Amino acid sequence: MLVGVSGGIAAYKACELVRRLRQRGAHVVVVMTPAATEFVTPLTFQTLSGNPVVTSLWGDQAPRFELPDRVRARMGGKVGHVDLAEAVDALVIAPATANLIARLVHGEAPDALTAIALACRVPLIVCPAMDVEMWRHPATVENLAVLRRRGVILVGPADGPLASGLVGPGRLAEIDVIADAVERSLAYRGSMTGVRVLVGAGRTEEPIDPVRVLTNRSSGRMGMALAEAARDRGAEVTLVTGPTDVGPPGGVRVIAVRTAIEMAAAMAAEARGADAVVMAAAVADYRAAKPAREKLKRADATRTLELEPNPDILAAIGAARRPGQVLVGFALETSDGVRRARTKLRAKGVDVIVLNDPADALGGDTNKVTLVEARSAKRLPEMSKREVADLVFARILELRSLKPGTRTARGGAGRTRAAKGQRT
Ligand code: C5P
Repeated sequence: MLVGVSGGIAAYKACELVRRLRQRGAHVVVVMTPAATEFVTPLTFQTLSGNPVVTSLWGDQAPRFELPDRVRARMGGKVGHVDLAEAVDALVIAPATANLIARLVHGEAPDALTAIALACRVPLIVCPAMDVEMWRHPATVENLAVLRRRGVILVGPADGPLASGLVGPGRLAEIDVIADAVERSLAYRGSMTGVRVLVGAGRTEEPIDPVRVLTNRSSGRMGMALAEAARDRGAEVTLVTGPTDVGPPGGVRVIAVRTAIEMAAAMAAEARGADAVVMAAAVADYRAAKPAREKLKRADATRTLELEPNPDILAAIGAARRPGQVLVGFALETSDGVRRARTKLRAKGVDVIVLNDPADALGGDTNKVTLVEARSAKRLPEMSKREVADLVFARILELRSLKPGTRTARGGAGRTRAAKGQRT
């Protein structure tokens, strides 16, 4: 794989990353921007990676790499930036400075790293590290949103003391966190190729009048993490989503809805062709029985709002399920969680209920869940919503392999941790 290093003080930490990736079995080639060479010499990375370091597109920068035969054969001898981009299975940029991120967004390619990044079609893992003010600048915020939409895997930054003396977000993520993300992106790639996954996400909004709605505080982060995790495994993902605080990941088909009725119609239609349905949406249990056409006027008298129940979207999908289809729901209970989750599992006709801990589920990036099934309940430690999503799909894959009538994934299984060997 390629490790790209751009010119920030955290460049020295990339030395440890290269070591760690090699320890985990990766074959590493380092590409440095000219600014990065001001912080760490190419010789350091050459020694740690065991390969010449790419610092320029020009001159005698066509180095002879000690690459596996498989890769060497594909490169046909000469190593140009396009060849290198095609020969590797991942590009991880650590640290990625604000400047480098801006260049990635605009497709600028003034140096070897950005030129290779532009030519790469493999997973791109970007690990930002910069001062807190640069991290918070609207330009950086918008640039990261663009990368996220394109399907780039962003790792970090972490919070803590920065080289400038300030404290806040901007530190390069921990090396093991980066190495785990890299390994995950490789291990999962292709494990759900051709599998059609439907994710329900976000909250619903039930109109009371033209400007007011009944809704809840669900951020939509869990649903987005699910869609992203399925996409990274090569699934064909459809995301039916109500309003959320975060945007959808790139590379998935998005159907935006507002009300529970709209969500029910979209989910039912899409579920017919789905191999797995994961319903993480926070659906309002009730809607206004008669939403007012005009904005309701303020009055001193008490007002009563008549409500009627919304359809149970997941239960309807459960009732109409096809053989081989895997269904997963979410639940948030404040007491007697596992027993209630199991009752829901039966009532809705689903395979797994992901039971949220109410203290953790809303708004944040982490979650503490229990995977409740008919005969088991697996309590997981606190982890990121993305990690929860990865474990949900790991279980979905297991359940698919157990079910008769399952469509097999096209393109075969992806690499697993156990199967990993020397990679470039
Ligand atoms: O019944 P409860 O709301 O706790 O069930 C939670 C699960 O059911 C979630 O997966 C949620 O998305 C789904 N649900 C639904 N339609 C509703 C209410 C909940 O699909 N009207």
